[in-house]
Amino acid sequence: MDNLISLVNKIQRACTALGDHGEASALPTLWESLPSIAVVGGQSSGKSSVLESVVGKDFLPRGSGIVTRRPLVLQLHKIDEGSREYAEFLHLPRKRFTDFAAVRREIQDETDRETGRSKQISSVPIHLSIYSPNVVNLTLIDLPGLTKVAVEGQPDSIVQDIENMVRAFIEKPNCIILAISPANQDLATSDAIKISREVDPTGERTLGVLTKIDLMDKGTDAVDIDKFGNSWSHFTWGFIKGIVVEKMLEGKSYRLKFPWVGVVNRSQADINKNVDMIAARRREREYFASTPEYKHLAPRMGSEYLAKMLSKHLEGVIKSKIPGIQSLINKTIAELESELSRLGKPIAADAGGKMYSIMEICRLFDQIYKEHLDGIRPGGDKI
Ligand code: GDP
Ligand code: NA
Ligand code: MG
Repeated sequence: MDNLISLVNKIQRACTALGDHGEASALPTLWESLPSIAVVGGQSSGKSSVLESVVGKDFLPRGSGIVTRRPLVLQLHKIDEGSREYAEFLHLPRKRFTDFAAVRREIQDETDRETGRSKQISSVPIHLSIYSPNVVNLTLIDLPGLTKVAVEGQPDSIVQDIENMVRAFIEKPNCIILAISPANQDLATSDAIKISREVDPTGERTLGVLTKIDLMDKGTDAVDIDKFGNSWSHFTWGFIKGIVVEKMLEGKSYRLKFPWVGVVNRSQADINKNVDMIAARRREREYFASTPEYKHLAPRMGSEYLAKMLSKHLEGVIKSKIPGIQSLINKTIAELESELSRLGKPIAADAGGKMYSIMEICRLFDQIYKEHLDGIRPGGDKI
């Protein structure tokens, strides 16, 4: 089934490359019908940190305030054990990045190229592929954080603009929503849960992630405490929140269709001290294994578990959507063929070649699909 995810990845990439050439009108529809995972949540809720942990690499700009200002479509490709990992941007074909700090700089520069150095946003995605023996096959989309107020240099419309951009991604029926909520804020006001409910009221395609669990008992923000009056000490509040979070992670409160996954990402201080990913993951594992409240949940908490769960989930969704994807692919092949024959000779060699390659990938998908067909019940498998 890994095969299917990587084929879907390839089709997505080929569609995007061709889409940029403005050829083949069937492709955007095909792209949008392919399942992917979008990360949503309030500003600084930890979206980029979660993505990095899932990938197991440092490569994203992170920090306080609005850092992610364009959608980042991130495709992870698992390659053979022992191969050197590298990254490639769609806007820089043929340039292989092996230094992931340079990947981060390029994301920043490419964001600025589109938006200027101001705090403006743009809905034009940046496409990045990471090839590594240590990733699971996945397509993930990092989105700008939902916010409540414009900051200096931003137009007043920004709050609504961000919300519209996020909604445009997550309202697609084949989009899996990774809804990020920080544990040190009030869940009742979680931006992630609010917008997810709007587009996915039954929670069919929403996966909840709780970040900053390590910050929760250190006293939360004043707003929360004020609700209980000032007589409530930070300690008491932390204690109550602790019980709420424990119940959530156990699936006893704030229930979603799928169980919440708790994670502990690096803090800003860790980032400033350059704590690396391996150390961070080890610490996260130790945190869940040794904290009395979460010990019994440890096997289904943390970033490594989240990455595996996501891949499995995506696989299940692709499986269940295969019949639909399949018919779209057949339609695309037919349309591409007629487009090619209509264009005839004068077509740019580059675009023509890409169309042929996308047809080949589609045919391969067709073949693998047929091999899997026997194992699939009508209506598809659920995980
Ligand atoms: P985004 O704006 O949602 O993409 O959030 P970022 O990933 O950029 O994180 C915002 C800030 O919160 C950064 O300073 C992170 O270091 C910090 N942060 C994120 N997750 C956690 C966590 O689980 N624990 C702690 N202590 N800090 C976190
Ligand atoms: Na941020
Ligand atoms: Mg971010």
